[in-house]
Amino acid sequence: SKAAAAEQRSRGQNAVVSVQCSTTPPVELEACSGTRDWYPEEFRLQRWLYEKFRATARATGFEEYDAPVLERQELYKRKAGEEITQQMYAFVDQDGVEVTLRPEMTPTLARMVLGRAQSMMLPLKWFSIPQCWRFETTQRGRKREHYQWNMDIIGCKSVSAETELLFAVCEFFKSIGITSADVGIKVNSRKVMASVLDSYGITAEKFAPVCIVMDKLDKIGADAVKAELVDTQGLPAETAAKIVECLACKTVSDLEALCGEGADQTGIDELKRLFELAEDYGYGDWLIFDASVVRGLAYYTGIVFEGFDRAGELRAICGGGRYDRLLSLYGAVTEVPACGFGFGDCVIVELLKDKGLLPELPKSIEFVVAAFNEGMQGKAMKAASMIRAGGSDVDMLLEPKKKVASTFDYANRIGARYIVFVAPQEWENDMVRIKDLRADYTDKDEEKQLDVKLSDLGRV
Ligand code: HAM
Repeated sequence: SKAAAAEQRSRGQNAVVSVQCSTTPPVELEACSGTRDWYPEEFRLQRWLYEKFRATARATGFEEYDAPVLERQELYKRKAGEEITQQMYAFVDQDGVEVTLRPEMTPTLARMVLGRAQSMMLPLKWFSIPQCWRFETTQRGRKREHYQWNMDIIGCKSVSAETELLFAVCEFFKSIGITSADVGIKVNSRKVMASVLDSYGITAEKFAPVCIVMDKLDKIGADAVKAELVDTQGLPAETAAKIVECLACKTVSDLEALCGEGADQTGIDELKRLFELAEDYGYGDWLIFDASVVRGLAYYTGIVFEGFDRAGELRAICGGGRYDRLLSLYGAVTEVPACGFGFGDCVIVELLKDKGLLPELPKSIEFVVAAFNEGMQGKAMKAASMIRAGGSDVDMLLEPKKKVASTFDYANRIGARYIVFVAPQEWENDMVRIKDLRADYTDKDEEKQLDVKLSDLGRV
């Protein structure tokens, strides 16, 4: 490429152009297993992705918040057997406090809302892009740290909240070129599942841990799920078989038929209403009902959902649902309705790669200012500051090159649009010479370069 050739040439001329490293360095140079360094070219992609997350969140009226990555372990002390509680980067700090790197954001959000309970006007619509830590077996789309776009609505009982969240998910997909032919969102309701399981004799306390086991269906298969329901939950084999069977329901009505006599209808009504509203909103084609989606976190109480690639190559792209009882667990005196989702930054990038949709994000800057020689360096810096004062981005060439061609090489390498040459001849007339690097060779000379007065530099 042009940039690589430029690199090659400048290598020959300047003394310090690259770092040489020993083949046996005394420290490990790779980031810790399952974690990522963000070199500028990768960071550009990450920023691009976050800007899309943020734009979607802002367009739907959500406010951004953040919190420390360090949390108290007590927030995650749940006994339902969730994987997440066994994957924590947990330790006791020097004050003797049991802390952990947060494995997810939802408990922190609940803590923050309760921390200012009196002053919060509901509903709250908040979003965040926290880094989360889980000691996982690293694989495609799964790492030990990941960033997770979270959007949550606190204080809304109706499925309008879920509808709004799912709208945002679909809008985000569309904004990065993903369509409903590439991705779908599976939807189910834990409330309905609770009714079904209640008719099989599963008590309310048993329900969450049983959900955690059901959630493993995709990963370990039907037989292993049945075995685990019998071994760890103490269910009769017949009940375990019925549970696995109900996960195969393909329509809301099929699942409805399994609810016990006189069972609470609200879960079914909510599901139906959600599908209706999604149609009205215009994203009905993204949603499908799937009884096997129950989610692996204990706190969900209502509608649950997961984004998946229709090609079936990747793990869940995002997931969320309603968690109306989590805030009570942390001290809310009455139930606080809440729902939200988490959307990781790993699987989506794999999907974009597979689809050839990764954006090209070359290094770029508007101006590079180059002095004719060391004697002109101060003047060049003055010119740079004047252009910057006008609001443009300017890279200052730190060591003037001996050859003009090397300055061009440098400008190409950093993706500059214009070179501003600061040389004695023009400077005497209070001018600098600006060359347009994207001018076509057929362009007239005056379009390729222009002498600009210093007093106009704030306006270039
Ligand atoms: P989760 O399903 O555990 O839910 O994670 C949500 C999303 O985060 C996943 O679908 C995936 O995109 C990403 N993710 C999770 N673990 C990893 C990992 N090890 N590596 C890469 N990506 C990962 C939650 O965390 C809930 N707190 C979401 C939520 C928010 N529910 C309500 N509000």
